[in-house]
Amino acid sequence: MRSRKYVRVAGFCAMLATGHLAALGQAQSSVTLVPGAPEVEYSKMIFGQFVEHFDNQVYGGIYDPGSKFADEDGFRTDVIEALKDIKTSIVRWPGGCFASTYHWLDGVGKERTPAYDKTWQVEDPNTFGTDEFVKWCRKVGCEPYICTNAGTGTPEEMSDWVEYCNLTVGKYGRMRMANGYPEPHNVKYWSVGNENWGAHELGARTVQEWGPLVRESAKLMRSVTKDAKLFAAATSDKNWTMPLLQAAGPYLDYVAIHGYWDPLFHVNNPAPYLECMMKTEAPELDIRRTIGILDEAGFGGGRIKIAYDEWNLRNWHHPWHGDLRRGFDLEARRKNDIAKTYTMADALFSACFLNACLRHSDVVDIACFAPVVNTRGPIFVHPDGIVKRTTYHVFWMYTNLLEDCMVPVSVAAERLALGDRSVGVLDVVLTADKERTRYACAIVNKDPAAERLVSLDFDGMGIKPKRKLRGMVLSGSSPDDFNEVGAEDRVVPRERDFAVKDGKVALPPHSLTVLFVE
Ligand code: AHR
Repeated sequence: MRSRKYVRVAGFCAMLATGHLAALGQAQSSVTLVPGAPEVEYSKMIFGQFVEHFDNQVYGGIYDPGSKFADEDGFRTDVIEALKDIKTSIVRWPGGCFASTYHWLDGVGKERTPAYDKTWQVEDPNTFGTDEFVKWCRKVGCEPYICTNAGTGTPEEMSDWVEYCNLTVGKYGRMRMANGYPEPHNVKYWSVGNENWGAHELGARTVQEWGPLVRESAKLMRSVTKDAKLFAAATSDKNWTMPLLQAAGPYLDYVAIHGYWDPLFHVNNPAPYLECMMKTEAPELDIRRTIGILDEAGFGGGRIKIAYDEWNLRNWHHPWHGDLRRGFDLEARRKNDIAKTYTMADALFSACFLNACLRHSDVVDIACFAPVVNTRGPIFVHPDGIVKRTTYHVFWMYTNLLEDCMVPVSVAAERLALGDRSVGVLDVVLTADKERTRYACAIVNKDPAAERLVSLDFDGMGIKPKRKLRGMVLSGSSPDDFNEVGAEDRVVPRERDFAVKDGKVALPPHSLTVLFVE
């Protein structure tokens, strides 16, 4: 049992266990490393992405045979390189809502027939299909994750797709081989459906229909690939997910949850910085709710895991969707790519989201940012290059700078308030290597204007006190700073020294900092 000490901080008494890391705001914040807690090696699959046949995400995004950056397969090489740099681990495709009316057979073989995409109400040329997607994933170095059509499709169409990808026998396995792919694609990750709980989805299901449909689809898919990882469209609402688990739980590996917190479907008025900061604790509440449902249904402790297979601060703008009388609106779709939308608010919200996943890494196993390029993605693709939006740099920092294991911390931080709402001003995760010789601490300072002081207990980490620390900081000249064509590097991570005074380090306002302690 380690000894405990009591530390008086600016007029209040905080109890900090020895072996602690303490972060002190200007008055009363503390972050405490839980002594002796076991490290949990977290899943790198939370740094995944999502790409949908929506606007210019696929055609003119990741795939553009006419581009000067295209490789021999028509893939944008600058995009591939950027995704390798953020160690992209898994990518979900082809939707999203698009998946709910997509028929995969239209997108394989030598002759491709354009099809009318009923979801987004445009023609899809079908030149980018299953074989192209898997090949692209292999070039990126990530796992392909396919979302099947549980809207207008059938369980058999789903399992035929698994057969096409993974077998060397049967009608569809042989079809792939005849199409020029003698080796199986070995696609492990398969989801039954997309948002079939919602009235907006073409092929939406009732709660009574969903569980049995997922169960029968999963049985068929598993009969093709025994160890496939199977997901089903779910929510953090018990009324939907409990009956799903009761009917289909034994056949599933993941519940697929979606989260967008700035509702912009109908009106594209992105929330300003402080409003976004008020949303930073919502994902963790959602995760906790979902874990509660899994526990209650008897699938807790990671038996069924959570895949946040679409997430982003900001909803995509497509006002005609779910309101079919309104008609398609090309101009509205373009508003998703207004560069100034993607500020430090997006970056810090995303860091807080990833922190929430890391804190629940025993259950949250996969997350896919939605989408990977264009629309609201971390990479904006244009004919002459790419722009890495602020969110891209968050992925770069987490995948390149953090250590492999989570070390629990408990935080008692000051509140950042907006009207009668407030959130903790700091969001902190501490990572370490397995031997605990190196620590990397990611700290979000949500304060729009003020530095915050963080005090590190080197003693507790078994490390000699330092006079300075190295760190990497993502911030901007203001909370609203953003990158755009011609100004690609306004907001980029910058390495710098942090002076340590009385064990404390000053963190810049509206910033994400990773501090290295070894
Ligand atoms: O707004 C984009 C859509 O968001 C995706 O297609 C869907 O899955 C989600 O609701």
